[in-house]
Amino acid sequence: MYVLNQICKIFDSRTVAVRELDLKIGRGERVALIGPSGAGKTTLFRMLNLTIPPTSGTLLFDGLDSRHFSGRRLREVRRRIGTIYQQHNLVPRLQVVHNVLSGKLGSWPTWRAVQSLIRPTEADLALEALRHVGIADKLYERTETLSGGQQQRVAIARLLAQDPEVILADEPVSSVDPALAAGIVKLLIDLSETHCKTLLMNLHSVDLAFAHFPRLIGLKDGTISFDLPAAAVTDEHLAALYVGSQTEAVEEEIFSRAEPSFVRSCQPHLTR
Ligand SMILES: Nc1ncnc2c1ncn2[C@@H]1O[C@H](COP(=O)(O)OP(=O)(O)OP(=O)(O)O)[C@@H](O)[C@H]1O
Ligand SMILES: [Mg+2]
Repeated sequence: MYVLNQICKIFDSRTVAVRELDLKIGRGERVALIGPSGAGKTTLFRMLNLTIPPTSGTLLFDGLDSRHFSGRRLREVRRRIGTIYQQHNLVPRLQVVHNVLSGKLGSWPTWRAVQSLIRPTEADLALEALRHVGIADKLYERTETLSGGQQQRVAIARLLAQDPEVILADEPVSSVDPALAAGIVKLLIDLSETHCKTLLMNLHSVDLAFAHFPRLIGLKDGTISFDLPAAAVTDEHLAALYVGSQTEAVEEEIFSRAEPSFVRSCQPHLTR
């Protein structure tokens, strides 16, 4: 699905967010990306969903060189990639049905998109998507009245309506409680399995990554620290990933967000 060769992303001619990164992701693979804040995870995802171009290196999507995409071609390729964000980017004042159907906007002609805003033209499609995520009864609710976890489900339903080949989920569960987080990650895994979609997920929770993904990639300072089957990732790999390059304040922030089991496993490697 993706072949990245020596990819770099430099912002403002000085911030190197991603450096000389080589990566292959197979069609239908499920991969979790973990790593400290500022490691370059979101930047990598923005290149993978073709929102920003690499500064150098080559990025092939389904064998096609991203440098050759522009205009209509770019829009067509982007439609094959669905992204879900931590803050889910829904329009709060709209009914759930409109937010779900906005997943189709990229593939509808303008007249149809406008018509759908006045009167949802494919409410059945939205209902089916909401059924998949377990909130079919919310079809005509105003989105802002839903809980954080329910809104994240609406974002997933929007993804289902879009029906992309690749799902990029950037910290999709950071704003929901741990029990809901596991449910949402599981839902995305199930959807990718059932519909043979490639799934890449950025996660702050190492435990969730271990529990649900066969392949784990550790990203640190814009480079790959490890890329291994989950079973082969050791405490040493994790400690090397999270400890060392951070200031004390950032380290503390990471550990305050981490599960107690992970903090314990890092303790022997900490110097202070
Ligand atoms: N648009 C931008 N302009 C300038 N610098 C940026 C931009 N986007 C990201 N960066 C920088 O690139 C680096 C990587 O940021 P990125 O958001 O990719 O990290 P991350 O791994 O997603 O972190 P987090 O876990 O906190 O979400 C950081 O130093 C960040 O400040
Ligand atoms: Mg990020």
